Amino acid sequence: MFSKETYINRRAQLKKTVGNGLLLFLGNEESGMNYTDNTYRFRQDSSFLYYFGLSFVNLYAVIDIDEDKEIIFGNELTIDDIVWMGTEPTLSERASTVGITEVHPVSSLKKYLSQATAKGQQIHYLPSYRPEHQVKLFHLLGIAPGAEEPSIPMIRTIVDMRNHKTEEEIMEIDKACTVTAKMHIAAMKELRVGMKEYEVAAIIEATAKSNGCPLSFPTIATVCGQTLHNHIHTNVVKEGDMLLVDAGCETQMGYAGDMSSTIPAGKKFSSRQKEIYDIQVAAHINAVHALKPGVPFKDIHKLACRTIFEGLKGLGLTKNDPDEAVELGVHAMFFPCGLGHMMGLDVHDMENLGEVWVGYNGQPKSTMFGYKSLRLARSLEPGFVLTIEPGIYFIPELIDYWRAEHKFLDFINYDKLETYKDFTGLRNEEDYVITKDGARRLGNLYVPVYANEVEALR
Ligand code: GLY
Ligand code: MN
Repeated sequence: MFSKETYINRRAQLKKTVGNGLLLFLGNEESGMNYTDNTYRFRQDSSFLYYFGLSFVNLYAVIDIDEDKEIIFGNELTIDDIVWMGTEPTLSERASTVGITEVHPVSSLKKYLSQATAKGQQIHYLPSYRPEHQVKLFHLLGIAPGAEEPSIPMIRTIVDMRNHKTEEEIMEIDKACTVTAKMHIAAMKELRVGMKEYEVAAIIEATAKSNGCPLSFPTIATVCGQTLHNHIHTNVVKEGDMLLVDAGCETQMGYAGDMSSTIPAGKKFSSRQKEIYDIQVAAHINAVHALKPGVPFKDIHKLACRTIFEGLKGLGLTKNDPDEAVELGVHAMFFPCGLGHMMGLDVHDMENLGEVWVGYNGQPKSTMFGYKSLRLARSLEPGFVLTIEPGIYFIPELIDYWRAEHKFLDFINYDKLETYKDFTGLRNEEDYVITKDGARRLGNLYVPVYANEVEALR
């Protein structure tokens, strides 16, 4: 955990900016996989972690701005808890590590909130992303599931604070990115023709675990990289395949890394693979060079889209004006997702608070295919931490679908594209922090991006 002053100062800024009312934070609970006691890995809510640092079940926190109180609601361990799960410091001791002196049992929270409501205080809370949040809001405040009205001032203040990473947060993210880089380098060195994808996933995940880091999201290790989030690991990696790896870990404090790489199954990419790979690398490098404060990320996304369109034009897969094509969304045939997203305590940082606040600063998102999947569009500011992950994907179903609709016939050479239906897909992904005059790659280990660098590890 950070020092208690970090948490005290964060809460002070939150209180000052929201101004009045009562802020209610719901900690996360254990979640049963197939029965109650067989649980998924416990993961505390990230906003709870950000303001209260405590990663235990059955905690609630209240910042009563009007009464100038900060309270943790939780229960002391019972003898059964201790017998089965081991002992912990008392709740007061744990709360004091983050500068909170007032703790109460969970049973008293409902009364505290009803008294606040009776006094006319506004209760601010965040959007639910787990069913247990909805149950809690129903129990505590009588809000029916689906009828929640999360507090926009609370969301906007938290988003603004969490979007601007401090030096100590960036040091944590650097740690996550260094281990994440090790995960990718292990896969690059150890992948062999004939392995099952799950054997490579095991190497990747063992690297995270042996560095004391849980995963920040489920590992992608697939020879079917054209499926953007492919979590199947049962294919055999054959000569001529490419393995797309998208994997990352988080530190014990919860800060994430998120990287992707594409590895030839054999020693080298084929010449057809390398042509496409190099276009993707050009999009990646162009995007990285454009990172600096004041530049709208949407423009950098478009730069990557244009680089991909132009590169494919050189191969005869696309035609006509790249700028016009990108405005119309033609590139989405090959790159149907976004160039990157914010990253922090969540791998897609604060997606639970709403992309429109996190990545769009309240401006509306496009609904156009391709652009609608861009999670980050706003102008960049120092302290933003984000991913750069352009990719080129040949999705047979999308090719058939657009062709049948005669979509963008002036821009896509469908006859040529038919010959790429077996190509699959590729991407590379790195993590950057925006500095006062540019950007810095996160992690102190470089994962090869250029084809010759990847091949040198094979
Ligand atoms: N690493 C998964 C994603 O960015 O969606
Ligand atoms: Mn990502």
